[in-house]
Amino acid sequence: MQNKELIKLALEAAQNAYAPYSKFHVGAAVLFDDGQVVTGCNVENASYGLSLCAERNAISTAVAQGIASQVKKIAIASLEADKCAPCGACRQWIYEFSKDAIIVLKDGDEMVEYTISELLPCSFGKEFLL
Ligand code: THU
Repeated sequence: MQNKELIKLALEAAQNAYAPYSKFHVGAAVLFDDGQVVTGCNVENASYGLSLCAERNAISTAVAQGIASQVKKIAIASLEADKCAPCGACRQWIYEFSKDAIIVLKDGDEMVEYTISELLPCSFGKEFLL
């Protein structure tokens, strides 16, 4: 799947965001190695710190669906920002499901790619524990 299509799916998911507090709507679309795509949006809470980011929503939805494949790419986009980079917690979650994941961001009308190791250098992962 092309980056542009993946970003389109992320933007569609962002339309469903529950973000009454920040009014910042984020969507994520995860492409797995087996070709499956799962999307998620941010879900906020009156107890602000309990809010869930779009990326973690998408990844946990995929786990709940039984997807056991590795994350190949994850596209992230916001309805409000030209470019929306993943927060630190989401970088750690992405790394859990592939240390080779590619992060695709909409940057205005362009798409930019980063590797998870660029965004989360010297990371802690399951390889430490195995
Ligand atoms: N947000 C995400 O969904 N993903 C990120 O990586 C950064 C932040 C959400 C959380 C909160 O609902 C809103 O954006 C404002 O921080």
